[in-house]
Amino acid sequence: MSVTDVPPTTPLRPARIPDDGLYEGRRLLRRTPDDWQERPYELFEVVPQAATIGAEIRGIDLARPLSAHLRAELDRALLEWKVLFFRGQHLTAERQRAFARNWGELETNPLLERGDSDEVVRFDKSAGGTPSFENVWHTDVTFRERPAMGAVLQLREVPPSGGDTLWADMAAAYDNLPRWVTERIDGAVAEHDFLPGFRRFYGPERLARWQESFPPVTHPVVRRHPATGRRMLFVNASFTTRILGMEQGESDRLLRLLFQQAHVPEFQVRFRWQAGDIAFWDNRATQHYAVADYGDARRVAERVAIAGDRPH
Ligand SMILES: [Fe+2]
Repeated sequence: MSVTDVPPTTPLRPARIPDDGLYEGRRLLRRTPDDWQERPYELFEVVPQAATIGAEIRGIDLARPLSAHLRAELDRALLEWKVLFFRGQHLTAERQRAFARNWGELETNPLLERGDSDEVVRFDKSAGGTPSFENVWHTDVTFRERPAMGAVLQLREVPPSGGDTLWADMAAAYDNLPRWVTERIDGAVAEHDFLPGFRRFYGPERLARWQESFPPVTHPVVRRHPATGRRMLFVNASFTTRILGMEQGESDRLLRLLFQQAHVPEFQVRFRWQAGDIAFWDNRATQHYAVADYGDARRVAERVAIAGDRPH
């Protein structure tokens, strides 16, 4: 049947495309704040991987201690690009921790498997291993009062294909919300709870114990980045349960729409790992998603998280 054979009554599009400005058209892709001073980098090469998020940093060896100058340049790159990639570093766990410590105290996470110390979380996904937590868009540990500022992840072993990680820029996600949505959420507060993300994987006893240590917390739906001042969407599908002061039905509908913002390809970067690669992300400004598409192949990742502040 050719196009001309289509009966004239057949609708060519769904009867109704939601007319809320979220689903099509041009995206506003601002990588940095409008008043940001762009300066060249002196100590490494920055290779952009997407429009607003993700840059590969070339020409430095993270196994060596950082000078103050290098630390400052990497910090600026992190603010500008939100996630930095370093190929072929093969850091020891100790060096990975030491690198992360340049950005503050390390965070321990009692809900996850440990690596060789409390501060290194090992994700070993192999046949019969722990089920995956990570193939849902989320920001890490927002069920805490002070969610991690950032994380340094290294892949020790990669599957023959697949196992990529994606990150989404939550400032771009906010910038592209239509006004009727920002008017609803600016100043709103949401509840975050570990239970929705973790309840599938653990028995009731352990969950009850953790619920005592981690009662639900609240965070602004839109937070301001403490270093850049940008407004960023700060709700995620793993941990955000409701917007306070709203009927549950309305809160659910609005949250579903907000969670979808992380799914927009223009706000994302996708990284194809090789063993020894490092990703360092700003957990305040991003969500991430680990693609679970490698069947029974083994994928071993080790993460160090940096303690964060209270979102405002
Ligand atoms: Fe995560």
